[in-house]
Amino acid sequence: MSANSEKSGADEKTDSAPEAPYTDHEYDGIKEYDNPMPGWWVWAFWATFYFSIGYVMWHHVYMRGTPVEVEWAADMAAAREESARRELGTISEESLQKLSENAAVMTDAQATFTKRCVECHGAKGQGVIGPNLTDDYWIHGKASFMDIYGVVKDGVPAKGMPAWGKKLDPVEVAKLTAYVGTLRGANLPGKAPEGTLLATVANAAK
Ligand code: HEC
Repeated sequence: MSANSEKSGADEKTDSAPEAPYTDHEYDGIKEYDNPMPGWWVWAFWATFYFSIGYVMWHHVYMRGTPVEVEWAADMAAAREESARRELGTISEESLQKLSENAAVMTDAQATFTKRCVECHGAKGQGVIGPNLTDDYWIHGKASFMDIYGVVKDGVPAKGMPAWGKKLDPVEVAKLTAYVGTLRGANLPGKAPEGTLLATVANAAK
């Protein structure tokens, strides 16, 4: 930088020096202008400050808001639901078979089974009031996916098996059917066999 430009720079400084008053701070001869932040900035600062107090109270002290991880889990479940819906298309032996191979959908279906079915069929489908779903004996049909679908959807009201098609979304019924399909042939010890011994059940699970 030349001496000239340095000089003009210094002039500029003197020209544009703000006329604001000084604060009474002084450090080693350096003075501080009293140059407050613009009003809108200060307003925004206090607005976010007070908002944060409310936010912390709401989410962390009183725990009233929905935590992000819960919202995330709900969104993911909804996405899996949607993918199951698309994948399923029309209900058939093949589409239910395919659904039963979708591990993420089966994890959701297991949760629904735990909520809706375990009181009668046991945690693993081994049977309590309702029959053992893991043995090779079946009351209704030959334990095909479509046989299972029919029982789950329409129930057996006279025997105490509810008609889930009246209570649940069709996709839920399909998911539960596919899930029961994955239990077939596991042969867990549980309720005494009911129905007809099928040679095909054990193979159906494989
Ligand atoms: C209130 C008790 C109860 C609940 C809850 C229940 N079931 Fe059942 N379920 C039964 C009974 C009882 C039978 C046997 C019906 C018969 O004897 O015809 C049965 C039969 C079945 C069968 C046919 C088994 C066969 O051998 O043919 C399937 C499949 C089944 N249930 C699936 C389900 C699923 C899936 C759920 C949950 C969505 C469920 N059940 C909830 C009582 C129940």
